[in-house]
Amino acid sequence: MVPLRVHLLAALVCLALCQYEDEDYVPPSLIGPSSANCDRECECPINFPSAMYCDSRKLKFVPMVPSGIKYLYLQNNQIDEIKPGVFDNVTSELRWLVLDNNQITNGKIASGTIDKLTALEKLFFSHNLLTEAVVPPSKSLDELKMTHNKLNKFPSGLLSDKENLTSVNVQHNELTSEAVAGAFKGSKKLLSLDVSHNKLKKLPVGVPASLEILYADYNDIDGIGSGYLSKVPGLRSLRMSHNKLVDSGIPAGVFNVTSLVELDLSFNKLQTIPDINEDLEQLYLQANEINKFDLSSFCKFVTPVNFSHLKHLRLDANNITHNSMPPEASECLRMASEILFE
Ligand SMILES: *[C@@H]1O[C@H](CO)[C@@H](O)[C@H](O)[C@H]1NC(C)=O
Ligand SMILES: *[C@@H]1O[C@H](CO)[C@@H](O)[C@H](O)[C@H]1NC(C)=O
Ligand SMILES: *[C@@H]1O[C@H](CO)[C@@H](O)[C@H](O)[C@H]1NC(C)=O
Ligand SMILES: *[C@@H]1O[C@H](CO)[C@@H](O)[C@H](O)[C@H]1NC(C)=O
Ligand SMILES: *[C@@H]1O[C@H](CO)[C@@H](O)[C@H](O)[C@H]1NC(C)=O
Repeated sequence: MVPLRVHLLAALVCLALCQYEDEDYVPPSLIGPSSANCDRECECPINFPSAMYCDSRKLKFVPMVPSGIKYLYLQNNQIDEIKPGVFDNVTSELRWLVLDNNQITNGKIASGTIDKLTALEKLFFSHNLLTEAVVPPSKSLDELKMTHNKLNKFPSGLLSDKENLTSVNVQHNELTSEAVAGAFKGSKKLLSLDVSHNKLKKLPVGVPASLEILYADYNDIDGIGSGYLSKVPGLRSLRMSHNKLVDSGIPAGVFNVTSLVELDLSFNKLQTIPDINEDLEQLYLQANEINKFDLSSFCKFVTPVNFSHLKHLRLDANNITHNSMPPEASECLRMASEILFE
């Protein structure tokens, strides 16, 4: 709660200026000295002076950022330009930069701005008009979100020195396989990569061995290289729904790897169920053209300790029914709580 006397003061000032519609809104400059010299369009809370909130206020450009600011929120504005010098006082201080929901193009990002940020940890740049990935020089970057842009370029090696990068989101762009070749190489701690809703013809090459989650739904992928999954030995979740996968693009045993827990191949053109590992728990194959249920895809043989750990199996919208499943299936698929045929 804001103390009463501050309310009174705010009301008095409001009589004179009355630029703030919300009567509870107290400009930080009236509450007391802030460690940062906040931009007048923005808000720097007294109890969190390293943050500057400039979100949702129809800003057309990024304001000058005063020294001391580490967290900068600029989402939901009409910003189409980042002018020279705006980050000059925070190049080695700024950690979070949130620019989601603006209209920024690459051509309007002045040099000496984002390319000078050496301490940035999070860059959130979704829902803008970028055609090329923007990556700051900071080696501390841990999260990069650039979804819903028009990215068609992601230069190779841009992320290779990001030793703490764990998550990259570039879904809903126009990236081709050529455009991302080498893009994700070298970030040794990358755990999660989302490239869904792009124009990939194959899964991105050169992804780090640390990867645990790879989402590539809604692309034009028709196959997978036979050694692909052996290069990502910790991959737990692979989603490739809504692609163009055909049997001939799936080398024998390519999905039979012990790390995978979830595999989504739904909405493709597969006619057979690919071989999977005993350890897989979720398998989504709905909306393919599967016309036979081959139990050996799940279990080559069944023993007290050898059986499939599948919990959920979706086979609906294919050309098979419950009757296609042989009686022995219950031994092999003993963990399955749900097998869906229609
Ligand atoms: C930026 O830093 C310079 C030099 O320290 C200082 O004079 C100026 O007031 C600062 N500007 C802002 C907006 O903090
Ligand atoms: C990476 O993270 C570790 C652990 O939080 C930290 O000690 C190290 O300084 C970080 N590296 C960079 C380049 O920021
Ligand atoms: C998966 O690979 C293991 C080890 O190579 C093998 O024993 C098993 O039969 C394979 N599973 C399927 C369904 O092909
Ligand atoms: C049988 O199960 C054991 C224990 O889960 C496992 O180590 C082994 O790889 C399995 N054998 C095959 C042929 O899948
Ligand atoms: C569906 O399966 C039936 C029976 O196995 C077969 O006769 C038919 O040709 C299949 N249809 C398609 C579209 O694969």
